[in-house]
Amino acid sequence: MDVIEAMRKRKSIRGFKPEPVGREILEEILEAACRAPSALNTQPWEFFVVAGEALQRLCRENVECLRSGAPLELEVAESAFSRDSVFRQRQVGLARQLFRSMGIEREDQEKRAEWLERGFRHFGAPAAIIIVKDESLSGDGPLLDIGAVMQSICLAAMKYGLGTCIARQGVFYPDVLRRVIGIPKSKRIVISIAIGYPDWDFPANAVQTEREGVDTITTWVGFQTEEEGS
Ligand SMILES: Cc1cc2nc3c(=O)[nH]c(=O)nc-3n(C[C@H](O)[C@H](O)[C@H](O)COP(=O)(O)O)c2cc1C
Repeated sequence: MDVIEAMRKRKSIRGFKPEPVGREILEEILEAACRAPSALNTQPWEFFVVAGEALQRLCRENVECLRSGAPLELEVAESAFSRDSVFRQRQVGLARQLFRSMGIEREDQEKRAEWLERGFRHFGAPAAIIIVKDESLSGDGPLLDIGAVMQSICLAAMKYGLGTCIARQGVFYPDVLRRVIGIPKSKRIVISIAIGYPDWDFPANAVQTEREGVDTITTWVGFQTEEEGS
């Protein structure tokens, strides 16, 4: 699969087969992904890779927190946008696509809660990669670098037939992560990536999310127009 094909085919996978992913494969993926660029080659990323009993415990405790109404917490700031923004429209568009694929009606609170919990269970993936950064690294810069490694992980996974879902939902309870997998206080928890073999019969995996056309988000400067070129 060439790079462009992989970029075009990558999508978030929210339903997995139970089959475990071998540690060697995960090591190869991380090794390749760590070739991602970073400012000044600082490589601000560190990984906690979780599977088996530890992952099950993580999922269980996440869901217990969610059901108890414990407040969600993020250790890196989430972007805020207004309800009348295009960003909100895109968010709503995604939710509509996912709910439609899963046959979840707007008023069906039970199914909606079930769907929400799915994210806190790492979508039933057999493994999850938690990305952290050292707390001494301030500012937004390291997050740009981590974004690059995050996408590289998702693309590299495809070579092994694996699917991924980057998810904030996996890191909304930092204390649970620290307790269950021993993430020290000196690390900021950034994001999680669920990883495993996709269950292609899982309806939400068929969703193809939308994208804005390049023409609407790009300003070209210093290029000849078609008329000028001819
Ligand atoms: C930083 C980040 C956080 C995300 N968090 C979640 C999440 O908590 N739950 C979820 O289901 N998807 C999450 N996603 C996946 C996005 O919803 C998904 O990438 C987007 O809708 C585009 O769809 P695609 O990945 O299938 O192309 C996250 C993606 C990113 C980059």
